[in-house]
Amino acid sequence: MRDSLPQEAARLSRVEAKFKEVFRKYSYEEIRIPVLESKELFYHGLGESSDAVGKEMYSFIDRDGKELALRPEGTASVVRALIQNNLCYNDRPRLWYEGPMFRHERPQAGRYRQFQQLGVEAFGFAEPTIDVEIIQMGNEVFRQLELSALVTLKINSIGSAEARAQYRERLIEALTPLSEELDEDSRKRLQTNPLRILDSKIPKTKELLKDAPKLRDSLSDNAKERFDDVLELLASAGVEYTVDPHLVRGFDYYSDTVFEWVTDHLGAQDAVCAGGRYDGLVELLGGSPTPGVGFAAGIDRIAKLCEQQQEPRYGAADVYLVPMEEVHREFVNSVAQHLRCHTDLRIREHIGAGNMRNKMRWADKSNAIWALIVGDTELQQRSVTVKWLRSERSQVSTSVENLLTILQENLE
Ligand code: HAM
Repeated sequence: MRDSLPQEAARLSRVEAKFKEVFRKYSYEEIRIPVLESKELFYHGLGESSDAVGKEMYSFIDRDGKELALRPEGTASVVRALIQNNLCYNDRPRLWYEGPMFRHERPQAGRYRQFQQLGVEAFGFAEPTIDVEIIQMGNEVFRQLELSALVTLKINSIGSAEARAQYRERLIEALTPLSEELDEDSRKRLQTNPLRILDSKIPKTKELLKDAPKLRDSLSDNAKERFDDVLELLASAGVEYTVDPHLVRGFDYYSDTVFEWVTDHLGAQDAVCAGGRYDGLVELLGGSPTPGVGFAAGIDRIAKLCEQQQEPRYGAADVYLVPMEEVHREFVNSVAQHLRCHTDLRIREHIGAGNMRNKMRWADKSNAIWALIVGDTELQQRSVTVKWLRSERSQVSTSVENLLTILQENLE
């Protein structure tokens, strides 16, 4: 688990703000869910054979002897909250949530044991239109963050649980005679979760899969038609996608549409946002049958992608106010309050003694655009001296009234 220092934290916040802005525009409502849940919720909801549950869960026994876990994801918690609070009674909620998730993975760039997700879940809609709405939201965020060129939307249909069970048998039958040629992980998966073999990145295994049975051939006509509808709606909404017949996703709860935005700019960690439909999960966890669909965005990974583009200049402050001596502080503080009240700028006051050279060094370190200096003359005239820290422009002296105009001009 790691710290996000101010520059990275600012990047994470910017990405989060963009998701929230888009969720709001689609009228999704926020739900807050706890970090700790009963371990059973994830065993039951996500499936023991998923890595996040079987291998990576942080779980412990609390003082009451209950088995709890730090949540590895948010969908199961949202479904639990939905059932407990009867949110589907006469309603079809569209929700979003955010927060840290925990998986005991092997950490590397873009893969952490605590990571931040922002997710959406919509309940009560069986129509393909809702799959498309959800995908459109994700797409909109990537467009607005100017990341569209760095990510690709992959989509597939995995059909119903019955279709997958049938396919599972066909896949085991086809791959068992070749098990010696499979990579070690895939060989293990042949026993535990054969569909995940389709996900393998090992070239030899990928080669063997070319002749293996195709999941699509096990789907019912209804499921195929439904998927075609989703694709058609996506195309007419102008969303670009690639159908990936090998996309299966890691949790047991999925059915029909599954999708992932992937990138090849983050090394091995290629998925930046992922989700799908989970029509059986609400019932599985004790609610009445209710279709569901959603996604979760990996904020840490998306923020890392943003590092690769032209980002807004980072600085702790926009304006740095410098009193030449302590007697000037009161006036400096009143100017700072005036600016905080009338602008959106970030205003930092210098605190501490020292000579002007030293104070100006602090001003520079804050990465502010302007230093505003106040000495005896300024105090007498109720003015400030504006010094541009990031350009050659020469300093000017101005009244406090006129100061806003000068700063504003410079921002445009
Ligand atoms: P997931 O694919 O496990 O799905 O996670 C979603 C996203 O979280 C991934 O695409 C990735 O960007 C990010 N992520 C996952 N693990 C890590 C990690 N160790 N470090 C950094 N980022 C990570 C889910 O969690 C489902 N609940 C999504 C969903 C919502 N499906 C339906 N509704």
